[in-house]
Amino acid sequence: MDSSLKRLFLLGLAFCSVLFVFWGCRETATMVGGQVEKAFQHPQVLADFHQVSGSCKDCHISKSGPIEDNLTHENNQCVECHASLAKLADVGVRGGVSPHRSHLIGAVACTSCHLGHEKSVSYCDACHSFEHQIPFAGKWERTFVPIDTDMMAQEQALAAGPRETTDVVIVGAGGAGLSAAVSAREAGANVILLEKEPIPGGNAKLAAGGMNAAETKSQAALGITDEKQIMIDDTMKGGRNLNDLALVKILAGNSSDSVDWLTSMGADLTDVGRMGGASVNRSHRPTGGAGVGAHVTQVLWDSAVKRNVDIRLNSRVVRLLKDSADNVTGVLVHGKVSGYYVIKADAVVMATGGFAKNNDRVAKYDPKLKGFKATNHPGAVGDGLDVALQAGVATRDLEYIQAHPTYSPVGGVMITEAVRGNGAILINRDGQRFVNEITTRDKAAAAILAQKGGSAYLIFDHSVRKSLKKIEGYINLHFVREGQSAAELAVAIGVPAAELEKTLASYNRFKKAGKDEQFGRPNLPRELALAPFYAIEVTPAVHHTMGGITIDSRTRAKTVNGKTIEGLYAAGEATGGVHGANRLGGNAISDIVTFGRIAGFEAAQYARQH
Ligand code: FAD
Ligand code: SIN
Repeated sequence: MDSSLKRLFLLGLAFCSVLFVFWGCRETATMVGGQVEKAFQHPQVLADFHQVSGSCKDCHISKSGPIEDNLTHENNQCVECHASLAKLADVGVRGGVSPHRSHLIGAVACTSCHLGHEKSVSYCDACHSFEHQIPFAGKWERTFVPIDTDMMAQEQALAAGPRETTDVVIVGAGGAGLSAAVSAREAGANVILLEKEPIPGGNAKLAAGGMNAAETKSQAALGITDEKQIMIDDTMKGGRNLNDLALVKILAGNSSDSVDWLTSMGADLTDVGRMGGASVNRSHRPTGGAGVGAHVTQVLWDSAVKRNVDIRLNSRVVRLLKDSADNVTGVLVHGKVSGYYVIKADAVVMATGGFAKNNDRVAKYDPKLKGFKATNHPGAVGDGLDVALQAGVATRDLEYIQAHPTYSPVGGVMITEAVRGNGAILINRDGQRFVNEITTRDKAAAAILAQKGGSAYLIFDHSVRKSLKKIEGYINLHFVREGQSAAELAVAIGVPAAELEKTLASYNRFKKAGKDEQFGRPNLPRELALAPFYAIEVTPAVHHTMGGITIDSRTRAKTVNGKTIEGLYAAGEATGGVHGANRLGGNAISDIVTFGRIAGFEAAQYARQH
């Protein structure tokens, strides 16, 4: 076939496969001829299908070199035929949901879901419940792979010695890792950032309600008076005073600086709202109340790319390497394509996040949470913690695991605390309020679990919806119930209409009087009176693991004897101490940016001296 004919054939095939992808339409296949039809009838994996159009070379051989773990060349081939993710976002939309429109950040690659030689999976299925089926797809499932798997291959890689050398290796491309990477580059270090998942951003990309910071320019512009000391007091109180006070002082003391740092890179953190346990509005998010995490991690990602951080996805760190003096000297990595290899580094930052998605591990520390769903991304399983433990770090507070009070069991989505912060109330099946909705989440979660059925309804009106962009995402996922009046909504969710009307009337009276006489809720932002009215069924789900690696105020990892492990730093949800027994909503993004920055800077300094 001459090249233009082949190209035409490929384009036709690509068009057909896009149709097939979106509508699962076998009949469409017959449009392009018998050969393709045969492949459609017996597909195993995408590679089978693509072989009809060409050979392995069409996808795999890159002029720029062999296959690497980011699968850059392969993904570019997908895009060349099928168009980019952004272009595909508006195709195949069903009821407002498109499989290619997402809140994921960075270079979301086609091969994250379309695995080629294995059954494809829908990454979104790891959290959400969608009707979408992608062709040749298996349901998302993940088994925990211990870090000591393939010991023979690991030993061989260790014996082969370092394949590369750099100043700083950062493990985990979530919010702490990306912050550390940018900060280490700013301090002049060469940085390799290793992420085990195909999609970067970790839990940080999912963050919704905001980033806590005190004494910021955005607060001042909105006339909000706040003090760093109040943020310290709120954080200590929320954490039941089990927090490391020195770390909390750093958190609050640097919080407004961290907002400025992100803003200098292009972040918009001008909307400020209330989260549970806070005395004042200090949760910063983009204009209109859009999710904070996808925005902040995208800004950090772009910044890391601009600063030439060497970012490697599909690259899991399974071991920290040490010299005879017990100083950290690098990492053993498992790359999806490249297998095991060693990177020698002067300093390593562990930014591997928490383990809320690993229910076996969660239940080991807190048996009450056995069988609970989690709000987290699929990679939050704790293998980074295993790596650190194997290297001799001390840990603290692992027994403190937080459930987020409002998770939609139908949609598989956490409903941000900001919905309550902006005015929503919680009612039980009798149509009555039962708690101060913006108390700390340990108390709110316990109160919901104590209701009939172990769940409750978040109730809000159209004015709350208009105040928070994040709510549009929930509406698009079709699990929000709606009524033109409170009574109609009550019928839709099966609670007594007269009770719900009474509850709303007394709440609106409290709002007018400026005092919640029932539960002492400190913020009453608006009346709930503008139709339509909305309800979301919610129940607690495992959300945040407060404990982790013990660090000092320079993010240096410690041993059980309190000794510093030279060359090893840690930041973010992988660490313990900042949040004590219970984290306040909005404090994690502050934590990961501030301590990520410190870790990157400290690691770069250390590398310079060694
Ligand atoms: P993560 O962002 O989880 O990143 C860790 C990364 O390390 C992951 O990408 C993981 O895949 C990778 N990794 C792990 N092990 C390895 C390994 N061995 N090798 C290589 N890579 C590895 N907090 C707030 O303050 N405000 C909010 O509004 C908010 N909303 C949230 C909403 C949701 C749905 C969730 C789940 C959390 C929310 N949080 C919020 C909490 C906050 O997002 C997290 O605590 C925080 O982002 C953790 O950041 P991190 O960088 O420490 O970890
Ligand atoms: C939320 O938006 O409710 C989550 C906030 C957090 O975990 O800090």
